[in-house]
Amino acid sequence: MEKFLRPLGRQLTRPRPKYPYAVPAVSYARRYLTVPHTVPALKDKSLFIQKCFVNGEWVAAESGKSFEVQDPATGKTIGTCPEFTPEDTHHAIAAATTAFPSFRKTLARERARLLRRWHQLMLDNADDLATLITWENGKPFADAKGEVLYAASFFEWFSEEAPRITGDTIPSSIPGNRIITLKEPVGVCGFITPWNFPAAMITRKVAPALAAGCTVVAKSPSETPFTANAIAELGLRAGLPKGVVNIVTGLDNTPAIGKLLTTHPEIRKVSFTGSTNVGKLLMQQSSSTLKKLSFELGGNAPFIVFDDAIDLDAAVAGVVASKFRSSGQTCVCANRIYVQRGVYEEFSRKLAEKVKGFNLGHGFHEGITHGPVINERAMTKVAEHVRDAESKGGKIIIGGSKAEDLGLNFFHPTIITDMTKDMQLASEETFGPVAGIFPFETEKEVVELANAAEVGLAGYFFSKDVRRIFRVAEALEVGMVGVNTGIISDPAGPFGGVKQSGFGREGSKYGIDEFLTIKTVTFGGMGEPLQD
Ligand code: SIN
Repeated sequence: MEKFLRPLGRQLTRPRPKYPYAVPAVSYARRYLTVPHTVPALKDKSLFIQKCFVNGEWVAAESGKSFEVQDPATGKTIGTCPEFTPEDTHHAIAAATTAFPSFRKTLARERARLLRRWHQLMLDNADDLATLITWENGKPFADAKGEVLYAASFFEWFSEEAPRITGDTIPSSIPGNRIITLKEPVGVCGFITPWNFPAAMITRKVAPALAAGCTVVAKSPSETPFTANAIAELGLRAGLPKGVVNIVTGLDNTPAIGKLLTTHPEIRKVSFTGSTNVGKLLMQQSSSTLKKLSFELGGNAPFIVFDDAIDLDAAVAGVVASKFRSSGQTCVCANRIYVQRGVYEEFSRKLAEKVKGFNLGHGFHEGITHGPVINERAMTKVAEHVRDAESKGGKIIIGGSKAEDLGLNFFHPTIITDMTKDMQLASEETFGPVAGIFPFETEKEVVELANAAEVGLAGYFFSKDVRRIFRVAEALEVGMVGVNTGIISDPAGPFGGVKQSGFGREGSKYGIDEFLTIKTVTFGGMGEPLQD
């Protein structure tokens, strides 16, 4: 995923607004649009926080500096957040370090109850959290609400995992010895999270960390810091002890904060969701202190429709769900859609009919199905992929241009047919609402094409042949496969990639392992006979 296209920080800058906001507002939306510089109508206004969260308190940067956060659909300023420096971030690391010895000793049941209370508070405040997500990320309010439930589900899931952290007893190969293992929290964790899921990408890391007994310093995304702050505030209300979770923000200082989190000796684990390029840099930096790492990086998901697909309409629905979710801005979005010749024309026509029914606009408007992309850089990349495909023979059957009349950063959902492997979209993740459809003839050919990518996060295919299902699922070089579905995100399923999509798994029963170390305890002199 191209969440960070340039080195950390500078790439997060949002462009200055170019267009006046021109979307005709309907009743629900007008409330927000007419008060652009104030908090939208949150039920609980105290959830809009323009500070950092350090040692259980809301604080500004010592310099007093802050950066502006803008609505991606309008360019209007939502508010500001502190421009934390590495020195400010040191306080957060110190707080997490001080909190760790006592937090690691809390009963797993206590941590489970904390996570359950936090889960419930997220549900109780779902409308406000969704409002913040839509405001700063742009996704339609209904999708934002879905994200809140998804995000909260990680607290629920890991509240159930916390009490089930168990070690082993292992038969020794040395006579008289006995071996047991203890699972221990790895320590203070540093997180760097992306803007595309302002709630879910932070809870998916914080929940297992806390379940394991770790403490956290998280750098929230500069585009979408307010959702993370609201979640932290709910954590405080749920009873989060001081220093256990700390949230820092920054724009220009992002690279320096990233460097500190990856080099500070007290930080034992770094978890990052973002681009492969930034992942490589963070991994290099982390080598200085050999941190435990989990990286969820870029994808370029193949989506294959075989001509024996159970139902072409279901395959179309699968592509709509996978390709156009969050306007194509998820790392598991289908990027290359391969359709077998026998159904190519029909599938493309049916997909275009569906896409015609999309409703592009500001996320607060009623009936909107798709929002803007995050910024001008994202727009440029999308436009470039479209232009490149067209210049090499691709046919745009719907969309293909910016929707400047709607506001900032709107691109019409686009379908391009007659795609070929020399086109940019074939080898680079678009991270936008463009579906490129490639024809193919055989199973072998398409699996080779699918596996040609350097990354391997998700892959999808539609087929009803059970033997083919196993053959292809096993052959795809990805961490996650969707068979006859376009939706694979689920707190119960291990989320993560292979190749240059990174390593480690989030969610599921495996997610907690990323935050635990195994200590082996060997007992000697245990083989004596029973005493008389
Ligand atoms: C991501 O885009 O990084 C995550 C998407 C998901 O969890 O579905």
